Amino acid sequence: MSEKQKMTSQEAIGMEEKYGAQNYHPLPVVLSRGEGVYVWDVEGKKYYDFLSAYSAVNQGHCHPKIIGALKDQAERLTLTSRAFYNDMLGRYEKYLSEFFGFNKVLPMNTGAEAVETAIKLARKWGYEKKGIHANKAKVIVCQNNFHGRTITIISASNDPVATENFGPFTPGIISIRYNDLNALSEALEDENVAAFLVEPIQGEAGVYVPDEDYLREAYQICKENNVLFISDEVQTGIARTGRLLASCGNCSCTDKLCSGVPEVKPDILILGKALSGGVFPVSAVLANEDIMDVIRPGNHGSTFGGNPLACAVAMAALEVVKEEKLAERADYLGKIFREEMNKLIQKSQWVKVVRGRGLLNAIVINDTEDSSTAWDICVALKENGLLAKPTHGNIIRFAPPLVMTEEQLYECIGIINKTILEFDAQYAEER
Ligand SMILES: Cc1ncc(COP(=O)(O)O)c(C=O)c1O
Repeated sequence: MSEKQKMTSQEAIGMEEKYGAQNYHPLPVVLSRGEGVYVWDVEGKKYYDFLSAYSAVNQGHCHPKIIGALKDQAERLTLTSRAFYNDMLGRYEKYLSEFFGFNKVLPMNTGAEAVETAIKLARKWGYEKKGIHANKAKVIVCQNNFHGRTITIISASNDPVATENFGPFTPGIISIRYNDLNALSEALEDENVAAFLVEPIQGEAGVYVPDEDYLREAYQICKENNVLFISDEVQTGIARTGRLLASCGNCSCTDKLCSGVPEVKPDILILGKALSGGVFPVSAVLANEDIMDVIRPGNHGSTFGGNPLACAVAMAALEVVKEEKLAERADYLGKIFREEMNKLIQKSQWVKVVRGRGLLNAIVINDTEDSSTAWDICVALKENGLLAKPTHGNIIRFAPPLVMTEEQLYECIGIINKTILEFDAQYAEER
């Protein structure tokens, strides 16, 4: 950008406020550059990114290998639509299938689209393979889920901010408590259930990690009832939680990319976000042939889904995960992070709990859910050079890029400690 085109933070924020729909409430920082774990604002101030675009930038900002693949492919071919074959899609589908241990891929763009795709796939499987009567199929979801923003997906949401005045909603959804196997068993008594859609860790809700045996047992109950287990790993997948996938300890992945204990191999796996390293929207639904073969020409699609640019970028993004051992790194750094936050809990009255797995963590702030304390802490963190954001109410999610070094992590922990202890000091002064 030329000097003439440069704008101040205030100008950029003002422009968004004037011309943009107000569907987000961003922290007041205007970023113009990113590299690895760092981002810079328009005034040149450097920050640690401790959100990674909601876990999309696992590989770090502008990773040279991913950007190299993007540039290289952008100069050859970007989009053919699926009206024609292209020389990248098949290669990518093979790569992705082998990487995650499935044998079919349905490429999409955003996470929400991939969730929609999985629901369509499950319904069609329900009618054609399970024998559910026409238009009776149901999908079980969990309370406090976050699967995206389309009408069908918000039909599965119990968040009033996401749903109010957007009805009528899509029928055929049963909502049960998360981490409750009895509720799942009860819901599965309905023979019209085609699938159970679940996040292995509820990220957006505030990083809720279920009981250790929850996913394995839930998967087992689904199998006993001939119901598909759909794992939404848009946020938890691709090394974020210290294993390649949070739901599957990954017994089946070819490269032994993580050290997790085998848990479940979902029938349908949904990926997005870090599948492109945050470079642009790339998502995918994976399943084996017996499920995926219900989809036939014309049943589903997207102009951009499976475009050659996405294929090149996603393969490079996954190679980075493998080459840089990001799952292992997230596992190792995550343990340090939680240990250090537990020490902070002993010192500060403001932090109640730390929870998470790998580098998907959250702290719960000791204040009411409708208080502004979590927001105020994030603003103060920003001033001290670290960017994070509250998820819901008094919960702050911490999800840095997985390429972070141990030294950088300790520096970030220092910033978090300093900021929160400043809040303690201020509170003590006010009393
Ligand atoms: C678990 C999960 N599923 C789906 C989505 C939707 O993804 P997108 O915002 O790309 O539509 C998200 C986004 O945060 C998510 O966390």
